Amino acid sequence: MSGAGVRVLDAIEGSRREPDPALFLGQGKAAEVAEAVRRLDATLVVVNHDISAVQQRNLEKEVGVTVIDRTGLILDIFAQRARSAEGKLQVELAQLERLSTRLIRGWTHLERQKGGIGLRGPGETQLETDRRLIGHRVKLLKQRLVRLQGQRSTQRRARARSGSLNVSLVGYTNAGKSTLFNRLTSAGAYAADQLFATLDTTSRRLHVGAGRQVVVSDTVGFIRHLPTTLVEAFRATLEETIHADLLLHVVDASHPDRDLQIEAVDHVLREIGAGDVPQWLIMNKVDRLAQPPRIERAECGTLRRVWLSAATGDGVSGLRESLAVFAAEPVTPPPVIHQHPSNSQDSDVAKRSAVGAP
Ligand code: GTP
Repeated sequence: MSGAGVRVLDAIEGSRREPDPALFLGQGKAAEVAEAVRRLDATLVVVNHDISAVQQRNLEKEVGVTVIDRTGLILDIFAQRARSAEGKLQVELAQLERLSTRLIRGWTHLERQKGGIGLRGPGETQLETDRRLIGHRVKLLKQRLVRLQGQRSTQRRARARSGSLNVSLVGYTNAGKSTLFNRLTSAGAYAADQLFATLDTTSRRLHVGAGRQVVVSDTVGFIRHLPTTLVEAFRATLEETIHADLLLHVVDASHPDRDLQIEAVDHVLREIGAGDVPQWLIMNKVDRLAQPPRIERAECGTLRRVWLSAATGDGVSGLRESLAVFAAEPVTPPPVIHQHPSNSQDSDVAKRSAVGAP
């Protein structure tokens, strides 16, 4: 939870067959949480589930401090980490869209707007005014996003024309993507022991010798059960991934849940249409496993897994060399596909697979 800048004082578990409609938790569990809040002098309660706005308000009354839910927490972390114009816009958009569905009478986050001259339309209730103001802002943000995305796709086209090899670092949050990105590109990307340290796609050119130029992009960390509304909101951030020639899927090999995390990342990749992009698994943090760095290949010789430590640098040279070999491979021209014109996405996939073929 260090990612959100809070210190965890206590974790209270519970299970119920049905969530309580008013409080989400049962009355007894809510009283237990309220008691813990008092005893530990806590200032925040995080519910690791999505709860309704009404439940949130009722629970706040019950425990006497601010209550946030899972999606609220993730959005908060995103908001703290957003740095680029596009990242900030995406976070604000996701926050506003969530807010507009959670506005309830007598409990609004737009209190300060109340009574503003000219803000309230004729016959509008405060609730309607809030919804209308949010609607305006959402529209504006969406227009700005479309403009920004247009600029990015121009950059991408320029890169594609220059014939460079586009490599995207993907992986579960905290796997070590930014650390590896720094190692590979010697850039000052932000690496910290915090969740979601990287929100915006950062791209750098990597010099690996002869062959095609390699452009490496760092991407936002993935998490399990990312609320669908957020997947949609961050799709543009991950778009770099869909257009990559190769994915370096960074894994915290020392994590007890590493297989679940690998599956979670693959699941999201499939969801955003990047399931067919060639992928190497980068088993990071071997220093914690007391294992030497190594490269695993399939029987046909195709690279499968690279075991390394981004932090110590052990094994990173092996990865660089493999990238250099990959970049030096002749680019197979995309096969000519005869297809229905409306199905143009398929030819894109075929092109990428051709580049990554062993
Ligand atoms: P998000 O941006 O949150 O998705 O994280 P990330 O995948 O970019 O991870 P980041 O590079 O910020 O690293 C997360 C933590 O793991 C940091 O504390 C790093 O110092 C640590 N770390 C990264 N690589 C290694 C490694 O090879 N060994 C060890 N022991 N720690 C590492």
